[in-house]
Amino acid sequence: MTSIVVRDASAIIPFAGSGPLRAAEMSSTEIVEHSSLLIADGRVAGIGAPEVADVEFDATGCTVIPGFVDPHTHLPFVGWRGDEDAARLAGRHYRDLHREEGGIYRSARLLGDAQDDEVLAFSATLAAGMLAAGTTTFETKSGYGLSIASELRQLRIAARLTALVPQTVVSTCLAAHAVPKGKSEGEWIGEVAQELLPVTAAEGLASACDIYVESIAFALDHAARLSETARSLGLRMRMHADQLEDSQAGAFAARWGFATADHLNHTSLEAVEDLAAADTVAVLLPGATFTLRQNKKPLARNLIESEAIVALGTDLNPGTSPIHSMPFVIALACRIYGLRPIEALAASTVNAAYALGVGDGIGRLAPGGRGDAAILDMKSFDEIAYRPDHNPVLAVLCGGELAHVAPDARHRVAS
Ligand code: NIG
Ligand code: FE
Repeated sequence: MTSIVVRDASAIIPFAGSGPLRAAEMSSTEIVEHSSLLIADGRVAGIGAPEVADVEFDATGCTVIPGFVDPHTHLPFVGWRGDEDAARLAGRHYRDLHREEGGIYRSARLLGDAQDDEVLAFSATLAAGMLAAGTTTFETKSGYGLSIASELRQLRIAARLTALVPQTVVSTCLAAHAVPKGKSEGEWIGEVAQELLPVTAAEGLASACDIYVESIAFALDHAARLSETARSLGLRMRMHADQLEDSQAGAFAARWGFATADHLNHTSLEAVEDLAAADTVAVLLPGATFTLRQNKKPLARNLIESEAIVALGTDLNPGTSPIHSMPFVIALACRIYGLRPIEALAASTVNAAYALGVGDGIGRLAPGGRGDAAILDMKSFDEIAYRPDHNPVLAVLCGGELAHVAPDARHRVAS
């Protein structure tokens, strides 16, 4: 294992301390100026004066942050659905395209028609793009299988992707994503609980179970049913909640102790109080709001100010969020959800790691933590939302290795 020194950075944002960050803790964190970061044996060794190391990165004029954690993606998948987006831009609704068996059903057909290697190659290209945008940990999900065998196949492709990429990957079973044709909601949930989740847990194919609660998908009693099984199998429970309408799903997820409640566009002010009182991470996905041109946005400032744990993710998927860049998501979160840049960073690192259940050891630049960092071409992180179409990532350290260097930063590396 190599040692790497990232020297003479303008700013390093380590998020010292422990646990998820709430309210003012997200913005009051110490920023270390004119310092260097040392990584050795795959782990963060410390921040301070530059030490001699195998590899040196000249970070003059740069900001160094923990690698981004993307706590919500729908990888692995194959194929885009740009024609559906064009139809939406012409006035169609996501819900109607879904009812006509586009949407999730379309991606399930694309997955079914593709070879495993094709799905893997398509997804690995996206994972490489994510790395180049600073993402060192991300989630994978099933949910485009829609039969027991196909869900297991998608989870196994996710496991192959995990072995292929340098990033840390955390896998979720989202079999409860759409109701398979010819089955009732209850029948499918029963099969998922009795057949799929036990195999998923036994084979270690996922550490969490997710459910899409919406009038076009599943109801809260289905979430309750899956939650009981998931709990008995040691799987964490997540929910796609209140994305297109207020289903009281955010409040339910908080009261039932779910690990996360994601989207939350239509979640009410009362439900914000439930989330604030819980350890459920509110995972906000502004890429989907932007893509679907939703006027209704989550009560992001209320969530933060009332002390809910807020995280950000891409929701990378071919339907509602064909977006894989966390810097772009952060820019959206600042511009359309009203987050401050430093809050958005806390939400994309520390809190996102807790959303995935890997907050001990990932998401901070703390001694002993995994050597994951991104080096940005800006003196202050405050500039992150200013140029939203610019990738600010000059280099990425992943598991203590220099996993990516942008072409215009190669002169900064010496070994
Ligand atoms: O998180 N809305 C539900 N699930 C996904 C979209 C999946 C798709 O359209 O393929 C989401 O937005
Ligand atoms: Fe999603």
